[in-house]
This record gives sequence, structure tokens and C-alpha cells, in this order.
Amino acid sequence: MKTFAIETSCDDTSLGIIEFENGVFTNTLLKTYSQIPDHQYYGWVVPEVAYRLHEEKILDIIQEIWYNQIEQCDFITVTKEPGLPGSLVVGNTVATMLWAFFNKPVHRVNHIYGHIFSLLLDRNISDCPFPRLVLTASGGHNEMYIVQQKKLSWENTTMVDQTLCLGDLDIIKIGYSLDDAAGECYDKVSRMLGGSYPGGPRIDSMAKKWIRNEKYKLKRILLDGKNIPHTDAHRLDNILNFSFSGMKSQVYQLLQKYPLETLSEQDICDIAWEFLECVTDILVQKVRWAAEHHHCKTFGIVGGVSASDTLYEKANTFLPTLRPIKKIYSMDNAAMIGVVGMLEYLDYMET
Ligand code: KG4
Ligand code: ZN
Repeated sequence: MKTFAIETSCDDTSLGIIEFENGVFTNTLLKTYSQIPDHQYYGWVVPEVAYRLHEEKILDIIQEIWYNQIEQCDFITVTKEPGLPGSLVVGNTVATMLWAFFNKPVHRVNHIYGHIFSLLLDRNISDCPFPRLVLTASGGHNEMYIVQQKKLSWENTTMVDQTLCLGDLDIIKIGYSLDDAAGECYDKVSRMLGGSYPGGPRIDSMAKKWIRNEKYKLKRILLDGKNIPHTDAHRLDNILNFSFSGMKSQVYQLLQKYPLETLSEQDICDIAWEFLECVTDILVQKVRWAAEHHHCKTFGIVGGVSASDTLYEKANTFLPTLRPIKKIYSMDNAAMIGVVGMLEYLDYMET
């Protein structure tokens, strides 16, 4: 079975053909136009620029793919939500146009589900059970989910059954960011440190040049109520939520004390390292609490921030951790959208 998938929710125009054969989801074709160079000038994703570029590029990419390849697909999948409204409209309009041209059904799917199920790409589910606890961390979203089978009680299930069927799954949000997403915070801090968009890869590479320096210590903001006289109920309410805007402020205050122009390149790398440690410590601490609270024995990280080796290595020390098999599957891409389309289509065929 094959689907032609379209992802245009933010700043990547991504199209692909995804196949499901012998229990494995693979992409036989994946073409992405990344708008990063176009937004770098501004330092962040500009929605107006993003949708105009999707409009400009999407038909060129479709032409590169060859119409007969689309003809051979069983249906079309497109990201419906969440995302930048103008960007989503471009993908959805093109999907409708292809429906009219090829007479193929269109499945409109959730972008976050795409990230969650990006873990399945190029993996055989029977060798590698799906994790129950999943952290989605990227530029636009930062959430924690429990993925479990509906019919089983939480005590009886440690992992999702190998016969994945989207209709049989409950995907329950157990935590989210009260302000910025982690990736957004990387991007803003990178800008404060004189860089541009996207911040994650830049902070990652600067942090590698770190030499021990206690001068730039940042506070880990855990919302665990330890520093504020919250009641227990408040504490539990927020303990699995995230807040990253305070991190940004801490770096801003640090730069008030030590202005950027007075810092050496080494100092900037040391701040980048401390920031990276701080964000990954927060993410990992929340995962630890969630895993304890919900009795999870496996964990998955997805979204742009899952490209960070530091995050993966920290999490993997206390829970077997999965992340997308290729870095391109961590970023926004059509392949992950095709997987959700396929899972929904399989459900639909069964009923
Ligand atoms: O998933 P994605 O491509 O788009 C959204 O849905 O937002 O994620 C992009 C985000 C950016 O904020 C970028 O700074 C971050 O992922 N990112 C990283 C790394 N590579 C990209 N963050 C941390 N470490 C990385 N290596
Ligand atoms: Zn995304």
C-alpha cells in the first residue's frame, strides 16, 4: 500500500511517497524544500514569507516527482493541523487539486501524530516495540504523551501491541509547555548569542567547544513548586508541564551582566553549553517523573530537538529510548505524515 504525502505546516515544503510492506513503513521518495535560508535573514519563521514560498515551490516539486508515481498511490495524505494557517492552506489546496485530478481519496491528518509515529519509519515494529511515553519537542510544540491500547488497563500494558492500529490507540497528552517550546527557546537564545535560525544545530555545535566554566550557571526551572508556596494540587498539576520562557530571560540577564561584545568566542560556547545542559536536564527530569508516575518502561523523543545527541544520551541512561532513525525524520517531513495517513487508512479499511 502506498500514499502520496504532503507536509506544509511550517517552513518545510515536503512531499513523499510512503509504502507499508512486511510490517515496515518506508519512504520510496522524499523531497523537501527547506525554507531555512529564506528565514535566516529575519532570525525566525515569518508566516507570510512561509506560505508564499510553499506556493512557489510545491508545484515544482510535484513536477519533479512524475505524475505516474502519484497515480500508483492508493490515496493522498496531507497535514491538516496544527501549524501556520496560510502554510496549511497551501498543502490542503494542492491535496484537493490532486484528488480532483487523480480521483484518489484525501486523508487530512494531525501534525503532532506525524511526529509521534515518525518513530515507526524504517523500523520493523516486531523488533522494536512502540514506546508508551513520547516527548514531542520542536520549534512549535513541546508536549508529553502516553500512547496506549484502549482495551488494556494501564497496569497491564507496558508497550503498545505490535499490531498497530490507530483506532485502537489512546494518545493522551500528559504535559505541555506553558509558554515557549524547547526548540523555540534554542532559536531565541541562539539569536541572543549572535546567531540565526535555527538555533538547535548551532547551540549543539558551539556546546561541543565548551571548557569547564562555572561562571554562567543557569537555574533549572522545573515548576515543581519547591520555590513557591504552592499546594500539593498545584504542584501535581504543573509537574509534567514545561516552561522555557524563563530560560530565555536568564540568558538575557546574563548578557546584561556580560554584554555579548565583551565576550570571547569561548565564553559564548560556554554559555551555549550551559544552556543546552539546562534545557536537556529539564526535559529529562520531566520524562523521569512522567515515566515514574505512569509506569512507563520505554520512551521516545521526536521533533526537531530529538536531533540533539545530548538529550538522547541523557534519557537513554535511565529508560530505553527511541528516536527517529534518521535526522530528517526528526524535522518536519512528509514521510511521518504518510505513516499517520496509512495507519488511519488501515483502520478505515478494517471497519
Ligand atoms: O520539528 P521541526 O523541524 O519543526 C517544528 O515543528 O517546529 O523542529 C525545528 C526545531 C527548531 O527550533 C530547531 O532549533 C530545533 O528543532 N532543532 C534542534 C536541533 N536541530 C533542530 N534543537 C536541538 N538540537 C538540535 N540538534
Ligand atoms: Zn513539527
